[in-house]
Amino acid sequence: MARSFVIAAAIAAFGLAAVADTSLAQGTVKIGFIIPMTGPQQSTGKQEVAAVKLYMAQHGDTVAGKKIELIIKDDGAVPDKTKRIAQELIVNDKVTFLAGFGITPTALAVAPLATQAKVPEIVTAAGTSFITERSPYIVRTSFAVPQSCVPMADWAVKNGIKRVVTMISDYAPGIDAEKSFTAEFVKNGGKVVDAIRFPLANPDFAPFLQRAADRKPDAVFIFVPSGQGSIFVRQFVQKGLDKAGIKIIGPGDVVDDDLLNGMGDQVIGTVTAHFYSADHDSAVNKAFVAAFEKANHGMRPNFMAVGGYDGMHLMYAALKKTGGNTDGTALVNAMKGMSWESPRGPISIDPQTRDIIHNVYIRRVEKKNGQLYNVEFATFPAVKDPGKAAEKKK
Ligand code: DHB
Repeated sequence: MARSFVIAAAIAAFGLAAVADTSLAQGTVKIGFIIPMTGPQQSTGKQEVAAVKLYMAQHGDTVAGKKIELIIKDDGAVPDKTKRIAQELIVNDKVTFLAGFGITPTALAVAPLATQAKVPEIVTAAGTSFITERSPYIVRTSFAVPQSCVPMADWAVKNGIKRVVTMISDYAPGIDAEKSFTAEFVKNGGKVVDAIRFPLANPDFAPFLQRAADRKPDAVFIFVPSGQGSIFVRQFVQKGLDKAGIKIIGPGDVVDDDLLNGMGDQVIGTVTAHFYSADHDSAVNKAFVAAFEKANHGMRPNFMAVGGYDGMHLMYAALKKTGGNTDGTALVNAMKGMSWESPRGPISIDPQTRDIIHNVYIRRVEKKNGQLYNVEFATFPAVKDPGKAAEKKK
């Protein structure tokens, strides 16, 4: 009697487990994708959403037997909103992953929640160096700003640029840009003759450009977040800095592919350092650009789109590796050390820092078939975030 009861109980328990396994909740993996679709950072949201949708269209919505459900939320790049949305996604929707984050403050706002809930936070857009240190559940597929700024400094000193004025948006990634560029540039014999910081929101560059012009530098090193480059370039030309022979240098955010073609021929010849150009010469990138443009009325993908696309790949690949296990710690462990070929070139996730390692290319704006492109002509291979190395040395 007692024995058959045990067996009956075991069957009931096994049966229940089987039912639970095939239930919709167990069989679905939800990705909460939080990104600015409105407000000043909306170009990031537009690019990233197009990319994640393309990834799903190309790779299907089933991974390791789980159905992938993408929940896209607009936070307008307002950190309080990001945090509230993330809380709802964790508690009500029970998401397996949080992803996106258009600017550094929104990525940071979610870090404590990711740690507490043990939910992987995949940063696909924001670029301040220290973001990945804010939670062991953060993994980044976008970039660290210093990755581009240090190679830019190396190239500049070797190519006759000796006096520079730095100009940056006054928030964390801008300060990362200023510090990492300046340290490398000065170390190699360059001189920073002025360091200008302007507000992130609605900047009027004109007075700052006047101040920069007065210092008669060889170049202005500029960091603005993606979406602001056209205004900067327009005011740079209006103020006559190009006519005065002053060059624009910097990480590639200022000549981002979303806006570049509308900037006009004045930008031809501008040299920047960055990890992605829509012109990157590889079969993987050519296929990506063609599919992206076809699915989005000819819109050209920029570096944010690639961060989103690679973020999707990372989540899909991690789920495959865990065999569909949705435990957050197991998923993050699966991501560590992963490598694959992205539209930007070969990339991997640093197993120590959970940050992206990618090539940084030196590119020059050129006209090709009537369109402006950042044409890559030199490569710094497999660049790790130099910002973290600098922190450790302190
Ligand atoms: C960040 C945002 C951007 O749009 C960009 O181009 C670089 C950095 C950020 O807030 O981290």
